[in-house]
Parts: sequence; C-alpha cells; structure tokens
Amino acid sequence: MTAQLNPCGDVAVLVPAAGAGVRLGPGRPKALRLLGGEPLLVHAVRRLAAAPSVHTIVVAAPAAEVAAVRDLLAPVAPVTVVPGGAERQASVAAALAAVPAGPQIVLVHDAARALTPPDLVESVAAAVRAGHDAVIPVLPVVDTIKEVDADEVVLGTVDRSALRAVQTPQGFRRAVLTAAHAAAGDPLTDDAGLVEKQGVPVSCVPGSEYALKVTRPFDLALAEHLLATGA
Ligand code: C5P
Repeated sequence: MTAQLNPCGDVAVLVPAAGAGVRLGPGRPKALRLLGGEPLLVHAVRRLAAAPSVHTIVVAAPAAEVAAVRDLLAPVAPVTVVPGGAERQASVAAALAAVPAGPQIVLVHDAARALTPPDLVESVAAAVRAGHDAVIPVLPVVDTIKEVDADEVVLGTVDRSALRAVQTPQGFRRAVLTAAHAAAGDPLTDDAGLVEKQGVPVSCVPGSEYALKVTRPFDLALAEHLLATGA
C-alpha cells in the first residue's frame, strides 16, 4: 500500500541514493541492491514515510536510473526523484534544490542506511524543532582507535571517549543547510561537515544500531539478519 506523507508536517527528507556502491562488489547501484528481495532504497523510503513529521521526500538517483527509481517508489510513497551528481554532496545539493516551499526542517539520509527506524527520524527532527540548527545521530566508538602513518606504523592512540561514529539522518534548519551548500567547497562525506565550516554548532542525539550503513558485503549480511528478525 502506498504510504501517505503528512501534508501538515514540517520536515523534508533528502535521500542521496546515486552512489555506485563499489565497496559492495560488482552489481547494480548500491541503493538498488536487494535486501530481503527489495532494493535498499525501498526499505529506506518506507521507514522515512512512516515518520509522522515527514512532509516531503526527495531522492537523488543515479542519472541513468531516474525513471526506474520513480516507478520503483511510486507504490511505496509519494516521492520526488531527481538525478544525482558525481559526489554525494552534489546529489544532496540537487535534492535540496527540489524541496518545495513549506518545510523548515531538512533531513539528509543515506539510502544505504536502509533499516533506520522512523523513531530516529523523529528524534533528529524534534531536536531541530527544539532550536538546534544542526543535529546528528551518533554512537560511541567501541574499538580502540590508532592513528597510523603511510607505512601503517602507529603514530599514537586516540582517546576514544571523545569520539563518536556519525550516522544519518542528519537534521538542519532549512536556511542553515541551504547556506552551507551555497558556500560549499571541496566535497565532504556528510552535511554536518559543511555546516561546521560555517561555524554553526552541531548537536548530537543518540543514534541507532539499526541505522548501520550498508557498505560492504558483511553489512548486507547483517542487515539481512536484522530484517529477518523484525527490523
Ligand atoms: O559512498 P557512501 O556509501 O558513503 O555513500 C553514502 C550515500 O550517498 C549512499 O546512499 C549513496 O547512494 C549516496 N551517494 C550519492 N551520490 C554519489 C555518491 C554517493 O547520492 N555520487
């Protein structure tokens, strides 16, 4: 059944889904790889559409797959699909340009985080609504982290108590994200990084293990298990 988005919601979600997924091995663009028989992107959009605050979803698809992605998502939820760019940052910028007037909170969410719970979407949006300009979901780092040189010789041990692993969705006041993208220079791997460069404070909320990014074959196997056990 096609989900309905909330016409009174205040959140637009941008979904960069235009990556090739090289680290996952040969095959279709990553967002279209199957998890439990359905593309990662379908799982991601279904969970976004289940978050009550979401008014708009804009997906940046691989340029050659825009029509196919529109057809794929039509039965899932009403989404806008635009061609992505060569870098993640360009894909986000393309999606941001397609957000209609209205929503004042913009979330950016990787299609590869296919099992992200709707509750996490809501908690990030709620923190922006409560007055934070930029909000990221984070998890503590569990491994000991070493810095190494080009020869893989250890330079030192980093204090992990001050480190966080960052997930998506990342949430922003719309004007803040728009200004950060307008000023963007070299591509970064997340949107909070652009906002930090503008001197805007970025706040953290607790992330979710279920929001893992499917990047390597092991992640896909783990996601298959989580899905089969009810995620
Ligand atoms: O490459 P990585 O796995 O970090 O990509 C994170 C997200 O950004 C994925 O959902 C991917 O599809 C997306 N992406 C994109 N356009 C690109 C590269 C990556 O939308 N050119």
